[in-house]
Amino acid sequence: MTTESSGINKAAGPRHIAIVMDGNGRWAKKRFLPRFFGHKAGVDSLVKVVQACIDREVEYLTVFAFSSENWKRPSDEVSGLMGLVLAAVSRYLAKMGQMGVRIRIVGDRDAVSPKLRNAWNEAESATAHNTKLTMSVAFNYGGRWDIVQACKAAMDAGVPSTELTEARLSEFMAMSYAPDPDLFIRTGGEVRISNFMLWQVAYTEFVFSDCLWPEFGDKQLDAAIAAFRDRDRRFGGVKEAPALADG
Ligand code: FPP
Repeated sequence: MTTESSGINKAAGPRHIAIVMDGNGRWAKKRFLPRFFGHKAGVDSLVKVVQACIDREVEYLTVFAFSSENWKRPSDEVSGLMGLVLAAVSRYLAKMGQMGVRIRIVGDRDAVSPKLRNAWNEAESATAHNTKLTMSVAFNYGGRWDIVQACKAAMDAGVPSTELTEARLSEFMAMSYAPDPDLFIRTGGEVRISNFMLWQVAYTEFVFSDCLWPEFGDKQLDAAIAAFRDRDRRFGGVKEAPALADG
């Protein structure tokens, strides 16, 4: 069924949702638990949201799992997060495969441990053929890092400055395989981009939710999608980002 009453209306979008999963620490604090348990609950929430996106025929989901700035957190929290991600890959990889999820990792892989790098490589290669949903996990990622790495890659590829257009540079961005996000959601009550997908959100609709990430589910996702569609209707139908300038 692809009617609006079913909640599924692929033509109305969004095709690509980007999420800053904020509020794990506060969720844990409210329960007198260490922050780690908030991140653990955050992983469970992510798995549910992946399924919800598939059910709603969203094609791309991009989540901010670890920012370049997150290294500044206490070392036990950083190592806890790394361990959690490793555990999540081994626990959920097969399930993600069955769900039809293609996993892509975006970010600077040089600074992560060889163990985690191998886990990422395995997750990507094991799911490369899946077509239901592309989930990009931004890890050791920053929007400014992405722009700089794209410029370096373009220079290394010998693109002369006279030929460097927005469209040409886009080909070197870490997520050149995906359309720009239609909808950006940030949970946890903060109203900031925090260096996420700076290049790609030029025409994206933003929804900020007070809900803490571990409590984010179908209801909140539907509310964000409804807000997106409502804005979209007011501004004239399914929106496409303007074609990138060639010159
Ligand atoms: C922000 O909450 C959340 C993070 C820095 C980590 C998010 C990571 C996950 C949910 C795990 C993802 C795992 C995989 C395998 C993709 P916060 O700690 O800033 O919360 P606070 O603002 O309440 O302190």
